[in-house]
Parts: sequence; C-alpha cells; structure tokens
Amino acid sequence: TTPLRLGIAGLGTVGTGTVKIVRQKAHLLAVRAGRPIEISAVSARTRDKDRGVNLAAYDWEDDPVALAKRDDVDVFVELMGGSDGPAKAATEAALKAGKDVVTANKAMLALHGQELAQLAEDHGAVLRFEAAVAGGIPVIKSLTEGLAGNEVTRVLGVMNGTCNYILTRMESAGLPYDTVFEEANQLGFLEADPELDVGGIDAGHKLALLSSIAFGTQVNFAGVELEGIGRILIEDIRAAADMGYRIKLLGVAQMTGRGLEQRMSPCLVPAASPLGQLEGGTNMVVIEGDAVDQVVLRGPGAGEGPTASAVMGDVMDIARGLRVTTFGQPAKTLSEAQPAQSAAP
Ligand code: HSE
Repeated sequence: TTPLRLGIAGLGTVGTGTVKIVRQKAHLLAVRAGRPIEISAVSARTRDKDRGVNLAAYDWEDDPVALAKRDDVDVFVELMGGSDGPAKAATEAALKAGKDVVTANKAMLALHGQELAQLAEDHGAVLRFEAAVAGGIPVIKSLTEGLAGNEVTRVLGVMNGTCNYILTRMESAGLPYDTVFEEANQLGFLEADPELDVGGIDAGHKLALLSSIAFGTQVNFAGVELEGIGRILIEDIRAAADMGYRIKLLGVAQMTGRGLEQRMSPCLVPAASPLGQLEGGTNMVVIEGDAVDQVVLRGPGAGEGPTASAVMGDVMDIARGLRVTTFGQPAKTLSEAQPAQSAAP
C-alpha cells in the first residue's frame, strides 16, 4: 500500500510530539489507517539542538517553503506558529502545489483561514486544523462528524488554559492578578506575547474558528468582541464566589436574528456547573444542538502530547481518504458591543 508521507515544519513542543507519535506508534497507525504513515523531511529554525527524538532518518530543509513543495511530501504539517511570515508562506506554497495541510496555527487561521481554505479548494487540497482549537479536545471532529445532524444553537467554552490557570489560582491561593501572572510566566505557560493569552486574543482566535464551523459561516475574528482578564480583581472573584459563581474567560458564539454573535470575555458561571468546576489549565467546550441538546467536552488545551494527538487525528483522517471542507459562507456579524452576561449551562 502507498504510504502517506509527511513534511513537518516546526520542531518545538508540538512538532517534536508529532514526530514521537509517528515513530513510536508506526505499527498501530499503519493498521488503523490501512497504510503506513511516514516522515520524509523536517524543518525548523535551528538544526543542531537535542529535541529528545532521533531525526536522522529524515531529510532536513532549512526553508519551510522548500519542504512544503517537495515531491515526496503528501501532507505539509505546519507547526511553526505565527499568523504571517514563514508559516503562511509555506502553507500557501503547499496548498498551491495541491498538498494537504495540517496545522495547529490558530492565529494564522483566524486571520487568513478563509483565503487559505479557498486556496485549498482551488487546488483540490484539504486544510485541517483540529489542533488549533482547544488542543487535545477533538472539538472540530465532533462538530463536523458526530454532531453533523444538528443545527448548532450555541457554542461556548473556556479555550485558554493559561487564563483559566490564572483565574483559578487567584481564587484558590487568594493571590492578586500580578503575582499569579508572574507565576504563570515562571512556569512557562504564557505565549511569547503574553497579551495573546491574558488579552483573550488567543481564545478569541479559537472561538472564531469554532463558530465558523459550528454555524457554517466565514471565519471572522474581527467580529469577536474581546475582553481579557487583566482587570479582574481578587475582590471580584470573592464577590462572585459569595453568590455561588466563578469568573471564567468564556467564549460564546450563537446565531441571533441580527447575525452571528461572538464574544470572549470574563463571565460569571454557576460554580456548580461543568464550566464552573473547570480547574487549572484545562479547556472545556460546550456544544448545544437542536437534536442532541448539550454535549460537554473537556480536556487539555495545550502541551506536547495533547496537541500532537490532535495533529495526528487530522493526519489519520487524510490517510484514510477523508476530504472535508470546513469553513463556511460569509455571514452577518453582530458588531454592537453587548454587556457581559452570565452564560452557562
Ligand atoms: N496559550 C494557550 C493556552 C496555548 O494557554 O491555552 C494553547 O493554545
């Protein structure tokens, strides 16, 4: 049988985790996909660095665009990050060459997903990005496959583990925001630009992707009303607790009579609800559909194993011949700011 050959660009946490799965589970993956999954070549900024995984068997490319266009690459796996620059250039090159792309790059897709999806369609390629939303939780697959018989009424959730860590730690340790922010920084939880996390931008990127899939609309990050957690005081958290609530950076997307509403902001959620009980760096996505009622998905939103797990889920689907277009059509988006409300099951 014909192997599926990967070119992996970016060998940070997620890239290394993906190489490990391909190497360590070669037999299992081949049995499940009905064909071997192989790596032809890899690329990263630095070549000489011990990543704890043997890369000797793979060709090395300094230039990710060259990697993306190689004849022996069927699927370009983009794990470099960054909304523009090399990640976008290489993704475009791969799609133009008719190669399927698997990416974990939420920022690139939130800002350019529509044009990249169009490029994929024009060239008969598939663009998959399970790992871009809520890390290891197979939320896109749930929406596009398991829940495909539903009209989705609402999607909501906690999609940034770092913010959830900060908020739950402020509450449990009684520490102010600045102290816990510094702790999170020391632990290496924060993105290179921390504002992506605490400003709600990273979570907003994920919400924009999720809502486009849930409602069949064009991905529209500019239409997400954003508010971060930087102004939450320990007193706010205590006052919420006294009333039986907890404060979460909550994303909510729903189709209203006036258009698609997307909001990512600190919200009160009942302490006894699944969202209210979410601790630490975990993510949770709640999907409400007309037939299913409500489905709650919880899991790790980041990290080597969980994110590589999601990348491999996409790779396996491609290996099995599944070809799905995910992004939908342009839709009216609510632009008026609305006051934050409690919104939780
Ligand atoms: N900074 C992100 C988070 C990483 O904390 O959830 C995963 O996208």
